[in-house]
Amino acid sequence: MVDKWLENIKKCKSSTNLDDIRIKILGKNGELTNMFADMKNIPNENKKEFAKNLNEQKINITKAIEGRKISLIKQETKRKLKSSAIDVSKYNMPPDIGALHPITSTMNQIINYFTSLNYEVIDGPLIEDDFHNFEALNLPTYHPARDMQDTFYFNDNKLLRTHTSPVQIRTMLTQKPPIRMIAPGKVFRRDFDITHTPMFNQVEGLVVQDEGHISFANLKHTMQEFLINMFGDVDIRFRPSFFPFTEPSAEVDISCPFCQQKGCQICSKTGWLEVLGCGVVDQNVFEKVALKNCSGFAFGLGVERFAMLLHKIPDLRTLFQSDVRLLRQFR
Ligand code: PHE
Repeated sequence: MVDKWLENIKKCKSSTNLDDIRIKILGKNGELTNMFADMKNIPNENKKEFAKNLNEQKINITKAIEGRKISLIKQETKRKLKSSAIDVSKYNMPPDIGALHPITSTMNQIINYFTSLNYEVIDGPLIEDDFHNFEALNLPTYHPARDMQDTFYFNDNKLLRTHTSPVQIRTMLTQKPPIRMIAPGKVFRRDFDITHTPMFNQVEGLVVQDEGHISFANLKHTMQEFLINMFGDVDIRFRPSFFPFTEPSAEVDISCPFCQQKGCQICSKTGWLEVLGCGVVDQNVFEKVALKNCSGFAFGLGVERFAMLLHKIPDLRTLFQSDVRLLRQFR
């Protein structure tokens, strides 16, 4: 009997099955329990021996069941963990692909164009001083751009740069001509309406030589090639303008890509859109940075403007709202 029980316990494959076996042997009506009932038929002198024997069997069977139970539960837990384990590398959702913000991609496009022509990309501080932002750029103290209306001042001398032109000054103070550089970056002005934000991005350009002569014609050609590369088949016009640091100066317009010059809200019904300011470097600027016998040209453009025109985004504010629906369109 005992051997059969032990054999069954050993062969048992699951803990619920083992429980049935336990009940069958040790339960209220179990085979071993019932053997205790046979006591009454045993002669008195043998009762002690019989009981001792049964108790030993009971202990052995109980131990065997407990041992088997532990190993079965271990196996079962292992199996359960294996089947319910989460495979973190198994990911069914398509990856959420990001996109470059149109300002960033436009900035990259401009930078790539000029670096392909060997222009050096130069960085400058956002917090500038009066000398670099105004004084050295031939902006006299009475110039309206210095007005508190336009400039964020920290104190009399420290301010947030209002344009990227101070990087021209920093470059001319540290490098010898020939200089061929662009300076992309953030600029700040106290201005906020439909077409202005207090922070926006510019790309400055500067070319300086101390040999030969850089003329307005060189500037014009460079700007024309650049704008055709950026905007494709557009008409370009130069309008005489004024900047304290360039002479002569021009503002450059392209034909409105929104209405094909029929006149729309974006071009204020003029058919033209202003895209950059430029000019031949004023000799007063060279004097401020102690460069002699030099000539050059400079230009500055607003990156948001370019991004709006390239991607036909009619409202400047959408570029600053951090709405992912805008970005999704640029994936
Ligand atoms: N710095 C000028 C601006 O912010 C742009 C400019 C740069 C014009 C260089 C001429 C030459 O409007």
